Amino acid sequence: MFCYYILVVACIAANSASRLPTAPYDIRVDHYKVDTTKDLIINTARPRFSWKIAMLETERNVLQVAYQLQIKSRNDQWDSKQVMSSHSIHVSYMGFDDLQSATFYQFRLRIWTTQSNQTSPWTNWIHFRTFMFNIHSYILSKNDSLMWIGSNQINMNELRKEFQISNSSPIQSAVVYISGLGYYELYVNGDKVDISRKLDPGWTVYEKRTLLVSFDLSATIKSGMNAVGVRLGNGWYGQEQYTPPVAPEPNYGPPRFIFFLQILFDNGEEMHVYSDSTWIGRQNSILHDSIYNGEFVDSRNDRLNWSRVGFTDLLSLWIPAELMSSPINESLHGQVVMQDMPPIRAGSDALHFEVTSTLIGGYLSANDIGHIQGAMLTDGGILKPIAVWSPTIGVQVFDLAQNMAGWCRFRFYGARGVGVYIRHGEILTPSIATTNRSYGEVYTENLLGATQSDTYVLHGDPAGEIYEPTFTYHGFRYVSIINAPNSMTVDDVECLVVHSETTLKGHFISSNPIINQIQHNIQWSQLNNLMSLPTDCPQREERKGWLGDAALTVNEALYNFDLIKLYINFLHSIVNTQGTDGAVPDTVPFSDGDFPADPNWGTALPTIAWQLYRHYNDVQILSSFYSNIRLYVESVYNAYKSTGLANLFYSYGDWVPPAPQPRANESLTSSFAFMHDISLLINMSQILGYTNDTHNYMELYQQLAEEFHRVFFNSTSHFYADGTQTSQILALALPNVVPSNIRSLVLEHLVSDITQKNNHVATGIIGTAQLYPLLSDNGYHDLALELISSITYPSYGYMSNNPYENATALWEIWNAPFEGPEMNSRNHIMYGSIGAWFYSHLAGIEFTSNTIVIRPRMASESKKHLLRKVDCQLSTLHGLVHVAYTRDEPDLVSNSIRFRLTIPANTQARVIFEPLFSGARCVRLIEGNEVIWPIDPKLLTERHNIENEVETGVMIVYINSGQYEYQVYWE
Ligand SMILES: *[C@@H]1O[C@H](CO)[C@@H](O)[C@H](O)[C@H]1NC(C)=O
Ligand SMILES: *[C@@H]1O[C@H](CO)[C@@H](O)[C@H](O)[C@H]1NC(C)=O
Ligand SMILES: *[C@@H]1O[C@H](CO)[C@@H](O)[C@H](O)[C@H]1NC(C)=O
Repeated sequence: MFCYYILVVACIAANSASRLPTAPYDIRVDHYKVDTTKDLIINTARPRFSWKIAMLETERNVLQVAYQLQIKSRNDQWDSKQVMSSHSIHVSYMGFDDLQSATFYQFRLRIWTTQSNQTSPWTNWIHFRTFMFNIHSYILSKNDSLMWIGSNQINMNELRKEFQISNSSPIQSAVVYISGLGYYELYVNGDKVDISRKLDPGWTVYEKRTLLVSFDLSATIKSGMNAVGVRLGNGWYGQEQYTPPVAPEPNYGPPRFIFFLQILFDNGEEMHVYSDSTWIGRQNSILHDSIYNGEFVDSRNDRLNWSRVGFTDLLSLWIPAELMSSPINESLHGQVVMQDMPPIRAGSDALHFEVTSTLIGGYLSANDIGHIQGAMLTDGGILKPIAVWSPTIGVQVFDLAQNMAGWCRFRFYGARGVGVYIRHGEILTPSIATTNRSYGEVYTENLLGATQSDTYVLHGDPAGEIYEPTFTYHGFRYVSIINAPNSMTVDDVECLVVHSETTLKGHFISSNPIINQIQHNIQWSQLNNLMSLPTDCPQREERKGWLGDAALTVNEALYNFDLIKLYINFLHSIVNTQGTDGAVPDTVPFSDGDFPADPNWGTALPTIAWQLYRHYNDVQILSSFYSNIRLYVESVYNAYKSTGLANLFYSYGDWVPPAPQPRANESLTSSFAFMHDISLLINMSQILGYTNDTHNYMELYQQLAEEFHRVFFNSTSHFYADGTQTSQILALALPNVVPSNIRSLVLEHLVSDITQKNNHVATGIIGTAQLYPLLSDNGYHDLALELISSITYPSYGYMSNNPYENATALWEIWNAPFEGPEMNSRNHIMYGSIGAWFYSHLAGIEFTSNTIVIRPRMASESKKHLLRKVDCQLSTLHGLVHVAYTRDEPDLVSNSIRFRLTIPANTQARVIFEPLFSGARCVRLIEGNEVIWPIDPKLLTERHNIENEVETGVMIVYINSGQYEYQVYWE
């Protein structure tokens, strides 16, 4: 037997020696993906590098042995030499000197793996540059010459300047730094810089942290005369986005920007161009712009060459720009800082792909998937209408077949001076929708105070003219064009999907078409709510950074999309709003709701940090935010001291349960968030080694756990508080709250309430987020599958299967068609929490620091029709995890299942096979062609990588990287 073992090893070694090693791929610097970042800018002197290791289909146990990293700039170079290390993610630059500010660098990388005794080839030299690290003090030091400019006299939204470069030495580099609030667009010598970049910079607590952006103009700036132009929009700097008395109303004033261009010449000389009173500006064709209310554009005011050298304009009033005050509040220690996250983009540049939706090596066929309504993410970010009709004379309605966020490009043919009015809505008027939906009018009442309409005045180009908004965005599926000068066809309209640039990293599809449609709706609502921060909805007068929505969906969002930079920026914004007492508001930047936040909203601070750590295995996130998280938890604790859990404060509780169900006990709901946050703080303090905190918060948690049970448990009826589903769910979801001897009674109460309601939930957003994992983890996975497969009210499936609307995004409330117009968004992400369960329980992909855990939960044989097949890809920092299974291959006997798994190189996985029915025992486990269970006792020592949990029957297999195919038979 010993020989056998050696033989296997020798065989692998022989195989691997024969193949040429490949360079590492999909490299990241400081979390930025090299492959998709156009101008890679790093805001740290000690960047960290991550890379993936290629693996052939037949290879297993590929591990990194060593790496070598080289970095060079014009003046410096650094070579790590061969570093014996298995680390391939978050590897720090370890040079003696810090990287220099505002400097161009290149790096390359090679590795050694267990697959080959040879060094891999080097990657190409990869370019990046550093931001100006001390930008805030630089700006302050130039305060006589470098100013924020704009105008208090006119709506100055287009500014220009020409400048001469007379240095005879060649230009070595030209780098610009710019920020314009609310939004800016930069033009150089006639062209927009980075054309797909939109609605820049991101929305922050401007007085504390205004984001600055840099562009490399080395290839654009020429010696001789040059022209630069800046357009300004109101964005979130404009008053229209704040609705007193509900929201605290800032008083920012007109838009303004700061700009500085640094040109370095080969002879070592420098030249600067600054924003100052030598710029001139005017009001351009955008007479009004607002995020909520759209644009009013008179294209007769367009001046095509406005940002070119030599432009003159006798028809517009160009006047000198005024010096404006800085948006930064120095007394609040405000700063301008680099926008350290991908920008908002429109169209095909906005979304990249690490996973494909074509079925790779799984078990699903197109027939299994069923019809999915709405556009595919792979459509390239530009949607064409599928239909157009005219409900009344002078009105045309276009249907995009997908609820989306962004705007459209229209082509009009008509006379100069004709005005067109454009409205956007998510649904058609309900009365018509019920009878003849294909001729309906766009319904706009649920937009409330946001008109999200644009008005365009033609300049009368006989060849036709294109209008596309600049400084607004809309949430819509239908577009209504009123008073078009010509009868428009679907070819005259195309709509750009707009969101923070990101990468699709998760793909989940199954044999259950209802689940597939829900996943579609989640991914679309998630994308539509990434607008430099996680928003609640993209259509009515909100679009705010509601913390509750962000906390509920961050786990789902991180399974589906690569968003670490966006969420780190958001954590900084949360901290920017945090009071000295630790409290945070309901919305960040604070513009709606309460302060202090409802505990299920404030939980965003600990929850987002924790989920980022889990998904990216990055401890730095925990250490950066730990003291703020602790302070936040202390703020809730201080409130608790005067109320106890029984009366803990709240604002919303378990928001929007399905009518007519009541909201669960609100103080219990808040207690859940408070204790959940303490348990996260305990985890974080353990990871960071803050043993005192671990000890103290564990003690506090234990005490609260006893109090929770004491004040909320009704020992007569054996349920918590009001007996609602949510009260039971939240008690059960908290560790160590429900005493073990009554756990099953409480579960049974919950389950019987669900079954009494004919398998329907009565939960709002907080209870729903916990319900599905709870059922799956506690013996009711079948019930969870029944609930998610339901299409009757209230259910996720109902949203896309009802007489009124076949939703292509998630609803805000379970009974949307029946509710009044007020709070009735058809593109709300907060119920998207369920998306995490698709990955964590249906595909069963979870993380515990360095190990991937694969544990697909199994329907019992009688319910297997609900989920016969799953195919799930998840791109991790190490590479692709792929889990596919089927329970109904023709050659499979009953009570058996077949899995395909891919585990990326340089990782390990714990694979857990659940029994297919209760009390089942695994009688045979086959991997490839080999029976690996039952174990031949003679092989025992070699086969220690299988465990059988006697009590539960669960089989556990420990594997390293590779592709595996298992068949598991149960009796
Ligand atoms: C691997 O390479 C090293 C150095 O090139 C050499 O000393 C060693 O013998 C090689 N090992 C094998 C197994 O080929
Ligand atoms: C930890 O607790 C001990 C005992 O209460 C105390 O002496 C020590 O100063 C604490 N350390 C920190 C870092 O707070
Ligand atoms: C406990 O439940 C019983 C039965 O539903 C009810 O009559 C009683 O009022 C509850 N007790 C408390 C303290 O709520």
